[in-house]
Parts: sequence; C-alpha cells; structure tokens
Amino acid sequence: MTSAITLDELTVVRSGNTVLDHIDAEIPAGEITGLLGPSGCGKTTLMRVIVGAQRITGGTATVLGSPAGSAALRSRVGYVTQSPAVYGDLTVEQNVAYFAALYPDRRATARTDVADAVAAVGLGPFTDRRADALSGGQRSRVSIACALVAHPELLILDEPTVGLDPLLRAELWERFSAMAASGTTLVVSSHVMDEAAHCAQLILLREGRLIEELTPAQLTERTGAPTLDDAFLALVRKQEEAA
Ligand SMILES: Nc1ncnc2c1ncn2[C@@H]1O[C@H](COP(=O)(O)OP(=O)(O)OP(=O)(O)O)[C@@H](O)[C@H]1O
Ligand SMILES: [Mg+2]
Repeated sequence: MTSAITLDELTVVRSGNTVLDHIDAEIPAGEITGLLGPSGCGKTTLMRVIVGAQRITGGTATVLGSPAGSAALRSRVGYVTQSPAVYGDLTVEQNVAYFAALYPDRRATARTDVADAVAAVGLGPFTDRRADALSGGQRSRVSIACALVAHPELLILDEPTVGLDPLLRAELWERFSAMAASGTTLVVSSHVMDEAAHCAQLILLREGRLIEELTPAQLTERTGAPTLDDAFLALVRKQEEAA
C-alpha cells in the first residue's frame, strides 16, 4: 500500500493535557480512512495536525511526502471543519465559487466545477439562496462543496454527516467512495460506528491513544461482535483487561 499520511510517535499536548499520545499510523492513499472514537478522544486535534493547524509536541506527521503544515501542501489538502465555515451573506454558488478562486492552479475555476460541487451535496435547488437562509445541515453541505470544488488530493472531513438525514448521508458516502476510486485520499471522522462500514481502513482512538488500526472486516472478525458499535466496545474492554 502507498501511504498518504504517516504518523510516527505523534504527540500533542494542549494546555498541559496530552490529547494525542504517541500515535503511530499509516493512512493509505486513494482510500477512505475512518477516524473513530468517542467525543474528546482527539479526532479533531489529529485532523488539525494533518492540515498543519495544530502544533506538534513530539513525533512526526508526514503528509503527501512533506512534513504536515508545509506550504507546498496548502493547495493539495482540503479541510472541512466540524462547524461549517461559510459566508452568510453570499449565496451557495458564490460561496463555492469563492473557494474555487482560492485554488487557481487546481482545475476549479470553471463554472461547471462549481455547479458539480453544489449538485454533489444535493444543494442544486438552493444554489442562489444566501447561506444565512439555509438550515444547519444545508450550511454544512455548502462547506463540503467548498472543499470538493478544489479537487484536493487529500480531503479531511471532520464529522461531515452530522445532522444529515439517512438519504443524504448515503449519497455523501457514495460521493466519497467515487472520489476515492478516482484516486483521492479521504480521512473522515465520526463518532457513529455505523459509518465505519464505508471506510477501507479504520483508526480507532480513545483518550488520545490509538486503540487499533484495522479494516471494518477485521474489527468484526476480531471481536465477533454483531455490530461495529459492539465491536468497538469489545476492543476497549479487551484493552482494559490487558492493562
Ligand atoms: N484549545 C484547546 N486547549 C486545550 N485542550 C483542548 C483544546 N481543544 C480541545 N482540547 C481537548 O483535547 C481533547 C481532544 O479534543 P478534540 O476536539 O480533538 O476531540 P474530538 O475527538 O474531536 O471530540 P468530538 O467528537 O467531541 O468532536 C479533549 O480532551 C479536549 O478537551
Ligand atoms: Mg471533533
């Protein structure tokens, strides 16, 4: 496997708390990797490291061959934050076009690209509506469209499906799979274990530590649990017994 991201003993301390503790992981290129674990386990912090927004205390994070945060990575990595960041006084189309214009070297400036990205998140009918007149779930989808339009090689999505209905959720996952099939590397966080089934690889975190890096099939095989939720709990309990 080719790695898009390599984490080596990655450690992050925030306000005196160790929020990532000696994480070793390989994130495969051209696949969807799920970053899973309970609230506060360090998912957002790890994503911030990957996009270069978080200072590393120890160890290394190598992204597309360069140290995380390198200037060369800026146009190659897309990031959708946990709280949607869109301009309320711009329409859906204007928001996406604005982000497209930030990446003139990607093939993102064409109007069709903007329309494609808007359609991909199911907002075609709302393209001319101001973002401040959208629902929360719609606004978070504008945020995703803003990242899609730049065709990044690596796309980091922090809980992109929160607040979406099952149909939209399924459509987004299909879109992510199609992107991975065409070579994009995706890292998607969730605290809903069901979503793990859509990922090729899983990174399971708990309290800043890596519990395991494995495939969804390995997770269910190893624990014999009927659902991915139960499998996660079974793994945590196994580790607690071993400790
Ligand atoms: N600015 C900060 N300063 C100090 N500690 C922080 C800061 N932001 C987050 N933390 C702590 O770091 C830990 C990891 O937080 P993080 O946001 O990465 O978790 P998360 O897995 O994304 O959680 P959630 O699922 O709720 O989004 C938590 O214990 C949190 O309290
Ligand atoms: Mg988070």
